Amino acid sequence: MCGIVGYTGSRQAYPVILKGLKRLEYRGYDSSGVALLKDGELNVYKKKGKVAELEESMIGNNIDAQIGIGHTRWATHGEPSDRNAHPHSSASGKLAMIHNGIIENYALIKQDLINKGYEFKSDTDTEVLLNFIEDIQQNNNSTLEEAVRIALKRVTGAYCILLIEQDNPDTIIAARKGSPLVIGIGKGEHFLASDASPIIEYTKEVVYVNDYELAIVKPDELILKNLGNEKITPYITKLDMELAAIEKGGYDHFMIKEIFEQPSTIFDCLRGRLDAKEGVIRMSGVDKHIDQLINANRIMILACGTSWHAGLIAEYIIEELCRIPVEVEYASEFRYRNPIVNKGDVIIAISQSGETADTLVALEKAKENGAFIFGVVNAVGSSIARISNAGAYTHAGPEIGVASTKAFTGQLAVLMMVALDIAKHKGTISDERYKSLLLELEEVPEKVNAILKNAEDIKKIAEKYKDASDFLFLGRGYNFPVALEGALKLKEISYIHAEGYPAAEMKHGPIALVDENLPVVFIATKDMYHEKIVSNMQEIKARKGKIISIVTEGDTVSPGLSNDFFAIPPADELIAPILTVIPLQLLSYYVGTAKGIDVDKPRNLAKSVTVE
Ligand code: G6P
Repeated sequence: MCGIVGYTGSRQAYPVILKGLKRLEYRGYDSSGVALLKDGELNVYKKKGKVAELEESMIGNNIDAQIGIGHTRWATHGEPSDRNAHPHSSASGKLAMIHNGIIENYALIKQDLINKGYEFKSDTDTEVLLNFIEDIQQNNNSTLEEAVRIALKRVTGAYCILLIEQDNPDTIIAARKGSPLVIGIGKGEHFLASDASPIIEYTKEVVYVNDYELAIVKPDELILKNLGNEKITPYITKLDMELAAIEKGGYDHFMIKEIFEQPSTIFDCLRGRLDAKEGVIRMSGVDKHIDQLINANRIMILACGTSWHAGLIAEYIIEELCRIPVEVEYASEFRYRNPIVNKGDVIIAISQSGETADTLVALEKAKENGAFIFGVVNAVGSSIARISNAGAYTHAGPEIGVASTKAFTGQLAVLMMVALDIAKHKGTISDERYKSLLLELEEVPEKVNAILKNAEDIKKIAEKYKDASDFLFLGRGYNFPVALEGALKLKEISYIHAEGYPAAEMKHGPIALVDENLPVVFIATKDMYHEKIVSNMQEIKARKGKIISIVTEGDTVSPGLSNDFFAIPPADELIAPILTVIPLQLLSYYVGTAKGIDVDKPRNLAKSVTVE
């Protein structure tokens, strides 16, 4: 979490930084700030709240500078406030620093500095690290670069830091461990950011900085070093991203834009991989490692949040098609317990951002134990993509709305193809079933399109139930994780308490909540569980719960039991989750907006969770 931007070159730095911060706001929006340096004058401006509030407060300030750093914060140490906002200034006022991450041993360092007479203006671990750096610089009479290197060898935790120094008119010192950093290479200028979105309109040539690397960035020069002071040749990559992909393009919010992009993002994900006519799936990440995959003793799926829900659906699909035992685990649990991971195990890591700290560390741990890592990642070049032994990108394009939508359906499409590819090679699927699933998968973009055409119907349902204080989401089989996802989406962006449950399990607790005020959303498409879920609907109806159901077109039974329903095109039950989740995404969006919530930036959340 937290977004960082830096610029050094001949342009005005402030507009570049401000625009960049707006693009990175999905990473946190508790406060924001900039530090600008000109003619030996280092000015720091910061403000609690979103970047727009900083922008307003900057009117009248001196913003003339060709070098600067900026930050948008997701609070960890210290409440959201002006005081705790970044950039922080060092005790002497000569250094300014921004930080994304957490310094775990900050308390010890802080005590040492207090003993030496340092006073702190904020509650942050960042200010501790900054003064630690300055203390080393002064005591050792060293350059900033040296002091940073010494300090970083002594800290534990995660960081991406950018520093500027009053007496150094054009240099940014940057370093990372665990939090992302991209450097854009321009002509006589450099751009630094947490991801490529603030950089894309200026240059497509970027360097992804690795853990334990330090960058010395001047307008005409980029030097990369490791913490042992050895130079590293920067590896320049070309960005495959267009500016339009990170702009709202006429929609009110990124979230609704991203929901409506799904026919094309799913199509892009399938393109070049799925050939239903020929009856083949071509996934180089799978095909190159097919022996490893078909001989896996078991597959463990590690993920967080929405990506974890995609993992649950994949568990059902892989066990059904590939007959390989699958376990799905929250990465945050896996990393702190003592899990059994053997050499023949395959880990599938699922992540939109590719930077989620818990997932990343869990993977490092599994890799140390000899597991083979297969990454299903959306952000190209991200840390999880790079740590994986093989993988497949979801190709959903940049996802900016904090609530994940198009990345989730991309994950499902990729995981379905991976399962089909393995099953085909392993011989655990009949030709007929294989071909029919390929054809079904190919039809998904069109069916999603058909669902989106009826979005207004969901809007009406949302308006009817927007004032409910609780929601229950129920599904069975492949649609059970969709119920979890529907509940998560609603919680995230409408602040309504919602729970997802396997429909049958509802009898063991949640049924006690049912009365005439409780909306219960059933994912009740035509599949092998249909009769069972109809019985569960009867049970809710008998207790006067309000039933909203997602049904298959042509079904007459479930709509008859429902207060409101939304029909989706028929689909194989393995494919259905990619479709059933769409109306639930829309429901949460319309409830959230009807309640006046800023759905792209819901309170307390951030998109790329780079803290544990
Ligand atoms: C955050 C986001 C979720 C996301 C989760 C996992 O909580 O708000 O949308 O599902 O992190 O992130 P990842 O990038 O690893 O998929």
